[in-house]
Amino acid sequence: MSEKKIYIRKPKKEFAKKIYKLVEDTKILDLNSEYLYLLQTTHFKESCSIALCEENIVGFVSGYRLPNKPDTLFVWQVAIDENFRGMGLAAKLIANTLKRKINSDIKYIHTTVSPSNKSSIKMFTKLAKYLKTEIKSKQFFEKEDFVDQHEEENLYEIGPIKRKGEK
Ligand SMILES: CC(C)(COP(=O)(O)OP(=O)(O)OC[C@H]1O[C@@H](n2cnc3c(N)ncnc32)[C@H](O)[C@@H]1OP(=O)(O)O)[C@@H](O)C(=O)NCCC(=O)NCCS
Repeated sequence: MSEKKIYIRKPKKEFAKKIYKLVEDTKILDLNSEYLYLLQTTHFKESCSIALCEENIVGFVSGYRLPNKPDTLFVWQVAIDENFRGMGLAAKLIANTLKRKINSDIKYIHTTVSPSNKSSIKMFTKLAKYLKTEIKSKQFFEKEDFVDQHEEENLYEIGPIKRKGEK
């Protein structure tokens, strides 16, 4: 575990290449095109966060608002450098995204997780607890929905989240 200071920021286009590498290094996430990470660091930067430690990107959370339900942040990919796992960094990145003024109306978080990814399920369960709200899961994407061999992805719904000023 590192003692160095970690900064959480909105991503910039200049970081897209390092994000691509971080996702690739997890070895378990689907690696998307470089172009996708460029879009996430430009068009979708308000709903994404990175963790910086010196010059390195040690964490990335990508997300977007559901087009037909804009009060819901869909968390797409979460990647934490293996030397920085187990420190609650992923949840901090998501909480930081929620704290932005532009995201003050977000009431729900949705995400998909494969049943074998116990670390991710634990992380989202702890996040729901931190946000003092519920988490529930249901079937979403089946194995047959993918071209190549791929585990199913269950949908996790977190919320409602009480926002500033709400009782
Ligand atoms: C899943 C992941 C995002 C969690 O991020 P994180 O910041 O480490 O999350 P947390 O610190 O809350 O730890 C969550 C759980 O991970 C497990 N964990 C702890 N240290 C770990 C380590 N060094 N390596 C792997 N898992 C670890 C623990 O079970 C922990 O839960 P616990 O503290 O209640 O026992 C991160 O492990 C990761 O990037 N994994 C590879 C990519 C991935 O699976 N992304 C999610 C896809 S949906």
